[in-house]
Formats: sequence, structure tokens, C-alpha cells
Amino acid sequence: MNTHIVIAIDGPAGSGKSTVAKLIAKKLGIVYIDTGAMYRALAYKAYTMDISFEDEKSIAKLAEAIEIELEGEKVLLDGIRVDGHIRMPVINENVSKVAKIRQVRDIMVMHQREMGKKRSVVMDGRDIGTHVFPNASYKFFLVADIDERARRRSLELIQKGYEVEFGEIKAELENRDMQDSTREASPLIKASDALEIDTTSKTPEEVADTIIRLVRTEE
Ligand code: CDP
Repeated sequence: MNTHIVIAIDGPAGSGKSTVAKLIAKKLGIVYIDTGAMYRALAYKAYTMDISFEDEKSIAKLAEAIEIELEGEKVLLDGIRVDGHIRMPVINENVSKVAKIRQVRDIMVMHQREMGKKRSVVMDGRDIGTHVFPNASYKFFLVADIDERARRRSLELIQKGYEVEFGEIKAELENRDMQDSTREASPLIKASDALEIDTTSKTPEEVADTIIRLVRTEE
């Protein structure tokens, strides 16, 4: 790959963004940036400090004070690995409250733009194609049936040793999608020039290969 490219992958929770983005990064030898992990790390920090998820002022202050670094799969919060903690149910249930705070988004987006400035990246999130990199070289919007998304998320949590109730997981995803889509600051929305891919009955490999094929033909 001779040029600097940004592949933006947005979509609702459980649509397969991160699995697909990781595969693309591996196959193309570019960097994967999980922007959701940044909002999750902040939510986790608030949780460990007993700051209420509703306390927007304190959370905005916290966002200014902490340092979040992404190194491949590793998520470092003030130098300490937290990727083992940021996907626990309490964070799933509350991360959108943290992510809707405008000052928080401004700080995160600044870092994300910095990360994608000098090297080729595949970045996944909710607002990458619409706000973080509106001029991204390639934009995709992944969707999938709610039952399939809940099934995927349940499996993920079971593998991590959590006890899950399918109905609760489904309700959590629906609730988060609603919060992410209706917030004022850069809501989850498909960019007009993004290509929508329904991943319901496709494997991550198939979706990644479709995207890679499109990237390669346009290169
Ligand atoms: O993996 P999953 O799709 O469940 O979520 P995630 O990508 O880890 O993102 C977690 C949450 O962070 C989302 O529900 C959004 O509230 C927020 N987020 C965001 O607002 N903007 C982004 N670019 C990425 C995530």
C-alpha cells in the first residue's frame, strides 16, 4: 500500500465492527484503532473512582486529566492495562452516558485525529465517517439483526466467564443504540457516502474480504 489511507467503520453495537476491523488491519498490515475502547476506558476510570455516570462535569474533568493509549489489543489507562476490564457489563450499560458528553467527545476526537494523521489506519466507532474523518478514504457502515447482535454479544460475555441472560443483553444493545443515535453530539448515523454492509449471515472473514477487495480495486 503506497498511500496513507483511513478506513472508517461505523455501526451499532455488536454489528461486527471490531472483529472485522482487526482482521482488515492484520491482512493489510495497518494499525487498528478501537475508538470505543477509549470511551470505555474513561467510563471504567469513573467507575473505579466512584464517580456517578450521570455527573457530566466530573467526567469531563476526568477526561482532561487521564491518558489513554492504544497499542494493538492493549488499552492503557494512565500507563496501566485495562482491556480486561472495559467490557464488563456495568461498562456496557453505562458507557453511552459518558460518550454523549460533548467535552469528552472533543478530547477523544482530537486524539483519534492525531492517531490517523500520519499512518494508514482502520478505525471503528460511531462517528468516524461522519465526524472524526469525514474525508476518510473508505467508509463502511455495518448493520445486523438485533437477535444476531445479541447472540454475538452473549457469546462474547460467556467466553469471558459472565453469566448472561439473552433478553437482558438484547435490551442493553437496543438501549445503547438508542442513546448513541439520539444524542446531540455526533450521533450514530450512516455517513451519506458510506457503504452499508449487513453482516447478519456473513462471517467476519467474508466482511473483511469484501472491504479489502473494495480498498484494493480503488487503490
Ligand atoms: O463493541 P461495541 O459495539 O459494543 O461498542 P464500542 O465500539 O466498544 O463502543 C462503546 C460505546 O462507546 C458506544 O456505545 C458509544 O456510546 C461510544 N462510542 C462513541 O460514542 N463514539 C465512538 N467513536 C466509539 C464509541
